[in-house]
Formats: sequence, C-alpha cells, structure tokens
Amino acid sequence: MGGSAPGASGAVRLAPEEAPGGNAIVFDGVTYAIGGRTILEDVSFGVAAGCIKVIMGPSGIGKSTILRLILGLIRPQRGRVLVLGKDVARISGEERSDLRQRIGMVFQNGALFDSLTVGENVGYSLLDHGHLRLDEVERRARYYLELVGLDADRLLDALPDELSVGMQRRVAIARALASNQPAIMLYDEPTTGLDPASVETITDIIVRLRQEMKVTGIVVTHEIPHALKVGNRFLFLYDRRVAFEGSSEDLAESTIPELAEFLLPFKISVANAFHSFSAEGNGQ
Ligand SMILES: Nc1ncnc2c1ncn2[C@@H]1O[C@H](COP(=O)(O)OP(=O)(O)OP(=O)(O)O)[C@@H](O)[C@H]1O
Ligand SMILES: [Mg+2]
Repeated sequence: MGGSAPGASGAVRLAPEEAPGGNAIVFDGVTYAIGGRTILEDVSFGVAAGCIKVIMGPSGIGKSTILRLILGLIRPQRGRVLVLGKDVARISGEERSDLRQRIGMVFQNGALFDSLTVGENVGYSLLDHGHLRLDEVERRARYYLELVGLDADRLLDALPDELSVGMQRRVAIARALASNQPAIMLYDEPTTGLDPASVETITDIIVRLRQEMKVTGIVVTHEIPHALKVGNRFLFLYDRRVAFEGSSEDLAESTIPELAEFLLPFKISVANAFHSFSAEGNGQ
C-alpha cells in the first residue's frame, strides 16, 4: 500500500482490520529497560483506529521510548507491541520495514535536512523508493505542502533556515505524510517552541488529518490546551507505569495526585474542555 498516489480526495483507505472499533496500536504488558534501568514496566494500553491518544508525563519518563517501540527501533524485554495487528518485535525485517511505511513520524524537534530544499525534504523518502519519476515526486511534495497550508510555489526551493519554526514544523508533517500516506502518525511534541498562532495551525492540521483522513495518532505533548483539542483519549505516564488513561472528562475528574500536579498550571483549560466536550458528546 505504501507509495500509492493520493486519491482525488486525498483520503487514506483503512484495511478492514483497522476499521473503527479495532485497535491500531496495542501495548500489552510491555516492560523496557536500558542501561540497567527500567523505563517502562508492565505498560498496557490501546489506540483505537481513527482516534488520537495523547501521551503526557514528566520529562525523561519514557514518552519518546513508547514511540521508538512502535517503530520497532527498540524491543521490549517483556510483553508485546502490536501495530496494525503485527507484533513489531517478532516480524521479519522486511515486514517491519513495510509496517514502518505505514507510520509517519514527526520528530521531537521537527528535524529537517538543513542542506536540502523544502521540496527535497518532503520528497526525499519518495526518491528513496526509487521507482517514481522526479516530476511525480515534485507533484506529491506540492500536494502535501498545500495540505498543511503552505504555498508550494513559494517554498519548494527554499531552504529550511529561511522558514519560521512553525512553518518548518508543518514541512515536517508534510514530509511524514508524503512518504507513505500513513495509517498512523506519531507526533513527538509537535508544538513545543512554537508561537501561539503556529500552535493553533499545527493543532488544526492534526485534527483535520484525523477527521478527514482517519489517521490514527499518538501525540506526545506537555501542552495541555493543545492536547485537549487534538486528543480523544489521554494517558499519563508516571514512575514507569500508566498512572492514568481516560477521556477528557476522566482527566478533569481525576484525583491522582501526580496527575493533578502535572495539570495544575492548566486547570482552567481542563475544566473548559470538559464542558465543551460534554456539550459535543465527544467522550470516545
Ligand atoms: N540509549 C539510552 N541509554 C540510556 N538511557 C536512555 C537511552 N535512551 C533513553 N534513555 C533514558 O530513558 C528515559 C526515557 O527517555 P525518553 O526519551 O523516552 O523520555 P521522554 O519522556 O520522551 O522525555 P522528554 O519529555 O524529555 O522528551 C530517559 O531517562 C532517558 O535518559
Ligand atoms: Mg521525548
């Protein structure tokens, strides 16, 4: 499925096993240790297909580690990580690389290749596939730049340095999308370091990808107002474990002390989100 051209609507088709109702990602009793230190212990959760799970937690707690496990870059010592029904640690290298084709990753600092143009950054992995003509690569780069609200005519030949940080982050999302029309997008702190207007733009893009293209997502973030706008479900990691998992209502009502402390600076946002979510009946 990787590498097929965007359809007229740009929609990504989900295979039947990924239809809403099933879990696109499952952590089943996952324990991961490195350098003699246990980072995650008996971590279990699912991400329903077509939904976005927000992962929160203090710095260094293991949020990016969860994303690395999903990509199969590291393996758990115990438990299973299932992605689109496949046990990432137990599939062949070829199957793992096929699976990675279906996952788009936006890295923690939005890392772009600074010596490549915006067009080359977005088209890079398509060129890597080796079977697409250059004009087709450029057509797709343009398509995905426009999808994230950037003016492809103006930016295709620009270098990343010439762009604002918010625009660079949008290019990073376009690049993750262009590579393979992913069924899953992983965003590692996509709004960190951005001005409020850019935070809004990135938030809108993530929500739109979920609503219009049914892309399943994990968003790692410290920024609670952003989290509340993009997430369907919320998970709080603390002391190696899942200390909380639930909806925005559950979040507002939680009495877990570590979570309450984490949310304290954002108490008003959480209360407001609870009311607006209740009004929309969006508590899935
Ligand atoms: N290769 C490694 N060797 C040793 N320790 C590591 C390695 N990779 C990660 N760690 C440790 O694992 C822990 C979890 O790291 P991770 O990057 O998942 O944290 P995080 O929750 O994403 O933090 P942040 O919010 O700062 O990005 C950290 O304490 C980190 O030091
Ligand atoms: Mg991290």
